[in-house]
Amino acid sequence: MTSRPAPTAATPRRLFVRTWGCQMNVYDSTRMAALLHPLGFAPAETPEAADMVILNTCHIREKAAEKLFSELGRLRAIKAGREASGRKFLIAVAGCVAQAEGEEILARAPFVDLVTGPQSYHRLPEMVARVARAGGAAIETDFAAEEKFDRLAEAASPQGVSAFLTVQEGCDKFCTFCVVPYTRGAEISRPMAAVLAEARRLVAAGAREITLIGQNVNAWHGAGEDGAPSSLSALIRAVAAIPGVLRVRYTTSHPLEMDDALIAAHRDEPKLMPWLHLPVQSGSDRVLRAMNRRHGVAAYLAVVERLRAARPDIGLSSDFIVGFPGETDADFQATLALVRRVGFASAFSFRYSARPGTPAALMPGQVPDQVAAGRLAELQALLSAQQRAFNAAMLGREVRVLWTGHGRHPGQVSGRTPWLQPVHMPGPACLIGQESPVRIEAVGTNSLAGRPTAKDHYPEPNAA
Ligand code: SAH
Ligand code: SF4
Ligand code: F3S
Repeated sequence: MTSRPAPTAATPRRLFVRTWGCQMNVYDSTRMAALLHPLGFAPAETPEAADMVILNTCHIREKAAEKLFSELGRLRAIKAGREASGRKFLIAVAGCVAQAEGEEILARAPFVDLVTGPQSYHRLPEMVARVARAGGAAIETDFAAEEKFDRLAEAASPQGVSAFLTVQEGCDKFCTFCVVPYTRGAEISRPMAAVLAEARRLVAAGAREITLIGQNVNAWHGAGEDGAPSSLSALIRAVAAIPGVLRVRYTTSHPLEMDDALIAAHRDEPKLMPWLHLPVQSGSDRVLRAMNRRHGVAAYLAVVERLRAARPDIGLSSDFIVGFPGETDADFQATLALVRRVGFASAFSFRYSARPGTPAALMPGQVPDQVAAGRLAELQALLSAQQRAFNAAMLGREVRVLWTGHGRHPGQVSGRTPWLQPVHMPGPACLIGQESPVRIEAVGTNSLAGRPTAKDHYPEPNAA
C-alpha cells in the first residue's frame, strides 16, 4: 500500500465561500479567499467541487443564523463522503454568527473544523495549517481589528469594475435591537494612506467604482495624510482623485454623522454619486427613543432637506424595522407618514427580530407576529410604489451608465445608473469598465433597458 503524500503549502486545492449579510461580509469573503490563495486554494464553483468551504455568516436577524445550520447539514454529508474515500474536507464558519456563537457552533456541529470571527480571519492561514497538522478544531474570536487590517494590507483581492473597500468597522451606537456592536466590536477607522493604497490596487485590478464601506461609514475619522484625524468627506475627495476612479459611493451612514462637509461633497465632488442609503428605522419619535437611535424624525428630515438642497437629484434609500417592542398603530402610521414625506428611491424593511443579548429583546410589548406581518406588508407596498415611480421617471431620460459586465443575452452589456438601477443594452464587451450615456427606453420591475446616445464612442457590436 502506498501512503498518500502529506499536503504541502502549495498543494492545489479548491475553496468555496458562501456569504450572507451585509457588504462588509462580501468584502471579508474576498479577503479570506485572497489570504488562502498562497496556500494553494483556487476558487470552486460549488461546495461539492471544493476541498474547503467557508460559510461567512450574518447574525442580524434570527433567520440568518438558522440558514447556517441548514447549510452545515448539507456540508456534513459532503464531508462524510469525502472522508470515506480518505480525503479531507475542511468546513470553516466565519462572520457574525461565529463571533456570537462560536462555542455553540462547535457543540452543535462538531464536524466544523474552524471558527473565526470577523476580526480574526487574518489568522485563517495558520488556523488551516494547525488543523491540517494536529486535527481537531480551531477557534478564533478575538477583537483585534487594527491588527487584522495591518495583516491584510498587501492581500490582493480583485473584485471587478465595482469594488467594495472597508474603511471603518464596528459600531459604538448600540441601537437597542442590534447585534453589530457585539459581533463587530468598537468603531475603528483605517488610516487614509492604507485606504488609498488599497483603492489604487483595486483600480489597477480593474475597479472603476469604489464603494467605501463601514457599519457607520460616515463616522470614519481615520488618520489623514498629516496624521491628524480626518473626515469621510476628505477621504471621498482623495479616492475620487485617484486616476482611473470614475465613481465613488459610501455606505452605510448614520443620520447623526451627516456633517456639513459630507453634504457639501455631494454638491462639489462630481464623482460622488447622487445616492445615499440613510437608515431611519422608524417614523415615530417614541420608537426612535426606545431604539436608542439618538435622533428624532425632525432631525432626519432636516438632513434630507440639506442633502436635497446640495444635490437636488439625490436618490435616497433607507432601512425600516416594523413591530419593534411597544410599537402602536399610531407609531406605525407615523412611519408611513415619514415615507410619504421623504419619497424613497429604494428601501429595505424588516420585521423586528428579537436578538439574544440586546436590550430590546427584554422590552415589554413585543408585537404579535400577525400584527407585525400586516404592517410590514403595508409598508412594503408603499415603498415598492415609490421605487416604481422613481424608476418610471427615468423613461426617455439620458443617464450615464457604468458598464460592469455582460448582459443576460449575447451582445448585451449591463451596468448601473448613478442611482444603482441595473441597465442593459446592446453593446460590445469593450464597454465594460467605461461610463457612457444611455437613453432609457424601457422600465421593467428590476431593471432598465436603453440605447446608446453616443454611437461614435465605440464600434457597433457587429462592425468589422
Ligand atoms: N449600520 C447600519 C445598518 C446595520 S444592520 C445602520 O445603523 O443603520 C442593517 C439593518 O438591519 C438595520 O438598518 C436594521 O434595519 C436591520 N436590523 C438590525 N437589527 C435588526 C433586528 N433585530 N430585527 C430586524 N431588523 C434589524
Ligand atoms: Fe446596529 Fe445601530 Fe450600529 Fe447600525 S448604528 S450597526 S443599527 S447599533
Ligand atoms: Fe450581518 Fe454582521 Fe453584517 S450581523 S449585517 S454580517 S455586520
